[in-house]
Amino acid sequence: MQQTTEQLDERFTALDQLLLDHQSLWHNQPFTQQTLAWEADLPELSAWLRAQSLEHAEQHQLEPWKALKAPLKGSGTFFAENIYLTPLMQLPRHPVKRLPEAMSRGIPGRKWQQIEAFAACLPPHWQGSRWLDWCAGKGHLGRRLAWPNDCLCCIEHDAQLIKDGQQLSEQWQVQASHQHCDALSEQAISHLATSDTWTALHACGDLHTSLLRHTTGQGVRRLAIAPCCYNRIRAGHYQPLSAQGKASKLRLDRTMLGLPLQATVTAGAAEVRKRNRNMAWRLGFDLLQRQWRDVDEYLPVPSMANRWQHDNFAGWCQAAAELKGIETKPVSDWRAAEQAGWQRLAEVRNLELVQGLFRRPLELWLLFDMALLLQEQGFSVQLGEFCPQELTPRNLLLLAER
Ligand SMILES: C[S@@+](CC[C@H](N)C(=O)[O-])C[C@H]1O[C@@H](n2cnc3c(N)ncnc32)[C@H](O)[C@@H]1O
Repeated sequence: MQQTTEQLDERFTALDQLLLDHQSLWHNQPFTQQTLAWEADLPELSAWLRAQSLEHAEQHQLEPWKALKAPLKGSGTFFAENIYLTPLMQLPRHPVKRLPEAMSRGIPGRKWQQIEAFAACLPPHWQGSRWLDWCAGKGHLGRRLAWPNDCLCCIEHDAQLIKDGQQLSEQWQVQASHQHCDALSEQAISHLATSDTWTALHACGDLHTSLLRHTTGQGVRRLAIAPCCYNRIRAGHYQPLSAQGKASKLRLDRTMLGLPLQATVTAGAAEVRKRNRNMAWRLGFDLLQRQWRDVDEYLPVPSMANRWQHDNFAGWCQAAAELKGIETKPVSDWRAAEQAGWQRLAEVRNLELVQGLFRRPLELWLLFDMALLLQEQGFSVQLGEFCPQELTPRNLLLLAER
């Protein structure tokens, strides 16, 4: 299961080529652009997608290739390449030490299951480590790994989470120090030397890449990182970590880095309905404001959900227009205007299925960049899924050992 340098190099190069060759298919924003550049090249696919329902898009959101396999037949090799490059193995699972049941009390069910799955992927000989939990929250992951006898250092910047974490560590007699500091500060670096095994579960953007950058010049022996929110970076573009990443022509801005995060698997039905209505109203308003302003351009409207409790489309549009300082014009049929928003939403969501094909390749490109950096530094690396997507869409785990 260990990935050799050649395997990583080869796969990264193939993903890089796939993403570069088909930028027009994933660099677009169906929500803000009424027509997409690729639609002229693939008119049948475009017409077919625009005729599908919102339910169709929602049903295929997680596995867009299932919906697109037939309509894309004969439109080049990229589809086969995409499917071939995307799968990753589930990481091998090892027996884990059993914890007192009460230790999981108060931790949301899904979070605890993620932690258990993460722990089961770490090789048994990692026990006895001096653990680091990076951006630890209350330190549930670190405590799970360190209990009962290992020592643990948690880095976190939220004072309340630290206080709660400290109390839990005392309660379970785990030798833990919960450090109150900004993970991006010099102070955080001074804590790294006390640990030989670094873990990070869902540390966003700069927070996980900064930990990876610190592996140069530190005595770390092992790493286990499950990254998330790749777009939470201070720079305008992603700064590649590895030599191959730096050599790539791919330039990823924050919008592109948000692509892997687009699929939602954890929302409940009521939340989905509410979000859909919000999006349909925004798109309905967008069609109106283009007429009112006589400018065929998307106009971003800040979130108004908490400011006004509108339960009708017309009221929402008036409020949005006021907020943006737009002069409205009479609308003869508000019902039809709202319906047009829902129709646009169905089209947008179905067009997004094409982008969705590149969600996983892009995420893998980012993880291979991390893996290649670690390999350059003499680590052996393993990359795979630590839990099913239903538990968290950010289910990739990078394991490294010197
Ligand atoms: C998505 S949560 C993950 C928490 C924990 N690892 C888990 O999986 O339950 C991200 C955590 O990073 C912390 N965080 C965000 N920015 C930080 C920073 N600059 N320095 C330290 N911690 C930070 C947040 O307070 C939050 O607890």
